[in-house]
Amino acid sequence: MPGEPEGFITGPTAAGGLSLLGPAELERAAALAPGPRAGFVAGRLALRRFAAELLDVPASDLTTNFSCPRCGTGPERSHGRPGYALQGVPVPLALSLSRSSGWVLLGAVVEPPAGVTIGVDLEDPARLDFDGFDGVALTRAEREALAGLSGPALLHERARLWARKEAWLKMTGRGLTAAPDTVDVLHRAELRDLAPGEAGLPRDLRAAVALSASPS
Ligand SMILES: CC(C)(COP(=O)(O)OP(=O)(O)OC[C@H]1O[C@@H](n2cnc3c(N)ncnc32)[C@H](O)[C@@H]1OP(=O)(O)O)[C@@H](O)C(=O)NCCC(=O)NCCS
Repeated sequence: MPGEPEGFITGPTAAGGLSLLGPAELERAAALAPGPRAGFVAGRLALRRFAAELLDVPASDLTTNFSCPRCGTGPERSHGRPGYALQGVPVPLALSLSRSSGWVLLGAVVEPPAGVTIGVDLEDPARLDFDGFDGVALTRAEREALAGLSGPALLHERARLWARKEAWLKMTGRGLTAAPDTVDVLHRAELRDLAPGEAGLPRDLRAAVALSASPS
């Protein structure tokens, strides 16, 4: 439905179908070590196939049209906010992608109203078990919200907040050019947590989606 987020497609990463990727994507893939390259390729193939399915066009007809707030938009761009074009015209999809621990999470809005953007993020709590995370990543109010937690409960809550934060930063397009400890995500109407069952994810991972309000 226009303006509503589409179902979230998730799955363990798996490479294949390299010929579907564009030149800028292949160049970025070639610069990566084999493990990260397989994850990158699998995510980009899944994203392209997801977009093609939503538009009901062959995946091979889409050209990449990513946007970076610093570098601009176009087929030569291999990073930034995801997007595609069909015969040179940007397709009517707002898209977002996240990878974590061998999984890919994708989100989309079909025929988004002008200016509407989406951000999704997936986090593995096990990756956030280090000293100093809270001081660098969280606002004061977020750190207070974690007070008293320890062990797995602390890691799960860190991952939940970090997924919300990165989903928010992808929705705005700023990414981590914004200092994460200045962006409070405890209560934002545009954000919601995705339950593992809802997105078909392993129970231990945490995920969030941010959908910008329609400009009035
Ligand atoms: C996006 C970001 C917050 C999350 O990264 P992460 O947790 O390491 O990785 P995730 O798998 O969750 O997300 C990566 C995806 O975010 C998306 N993304 C990257 N930059 C984005 C932006 N500015 N806006 C929206 N989405 C963005 C891409 O789809 C990317 O997938 P890709 O690796 O296939 O290109 C972080 O990578 C970031 O801030 N990147 C941009 C930094 C930047 O703008 N640098 C300046 C470049 S000139």
